[in-house]
Amino acid sequence: MATIESAIKHFLQFNDLSAEQLNHIFARTKIIKRQFKAYQPYWPLSDRTLVMIFEKASTRTRLSFEAGMQQLGGSAIYLNTRDSQLGRGEPVEDAAQVISRMSDIVMIRTFEQDIIERFAANSRVPVINGLTNEYHPCQILADIFTFIEHRGPIKGKTVAWIGDSNNVCNTWLQAAEVLDFNVHVSTPPGYEVEPERANLYGHAHYGEFADPMEAARGAHLVTTDVWTSMGFEAENEERLRDFADWQVDSDMMKVAAKDALFMHCLPAHRGEEVAADVIDGAHSVVWDEAENRLHVQKALMEYLLLGKVG
Ligand code: CP
Ligand code: NVA
Repeated sequence: MATIESAIKHFLQFNDLSAEQLNHIFARTKIIKRQFKAYQPYWPLSDRTLVMIFEKASTRTRLSFEAGMQQLGGSAIYLNTRDSQLGRGEPVEDAAQVISRMSDIVMIRTFEQDIIERFAANSRVPVINGLTNEYHPCQILADIFTFIEHRGPIKGKTVAWIGDSNNVCNTWLQAAEVLDFNVHVSTPPGYEVEPERANLYGHAHYGEFADPMEAARGAHLVTTDVWTSMGFEAENEERLRDFADWQVDSDMMKVAAKDALFMHCLPAHRGEEVAADVIDGAHSVVWDEAENRLHVQKALMEYLLLGKVG
């Protein structure tokens, strides 16, 4: 078997990148965003191809990667499980060998993290996690860039996570370790953080709170996500009952820091995990957050393919 190039940089979970690499990506994001808004063409990836593999639904991730690759001068190909051999049992290792010989970078949205790890182990090109059951690293890149844009460095700040200890929560917890901030987590009983699943180094950067109001108290950012993630739909009815007291509402925002931001990765369910007057209110930066997926992922692809530019 041919050996796979070992110097390939993947982004499979947030802690694959160091604080120094992340800060470079945030700095590049700012520049790439500003140039794009000024209609200055920037095509460093002309002739390069991104393959996007989706085993779950998406609006933002697909749009931001596809538009982003085109804006960098390259092209993007969309594959899904329904109409490719991926849905007919071709081993992920074989798919990785073939797809990575025909493309320059791959983004995958799938179920277990193990699938993307196996793909990456057999890939000749960088692989990016576009969401797995365990992690959503591109989302937290965008969220932290959005925080920095609005409030400056996140180091030392407190993020309140209210709701399910899901893929987005796990990624916030990893980010807190890498970038040295704190997360106050409040989940209903039975849905607590699983540190091993989150792949954390320790317990120093997060605290767990039985009462969501206490988690939100004094926080610089309050954030949440759907109560039922993709792949867990069978638990929906039970979760609606279990999470009923974990809605981010205006009373909760009142106990957070005065200038606290509200974020949600979207799609959102108003009246479930967040009250309409919060997501549509003055603290909310959800539209900037969604837009920044585009800009940070352009900087991420630039970094994974070209290294430090600028
Ligand atoms: N936030 C996010 O990843 O959205 P999509 O599911 O629409 O891609
Ligand atoms: N936690 C959600 C995020 C969707 C972008 C899910 O996995 O469905």
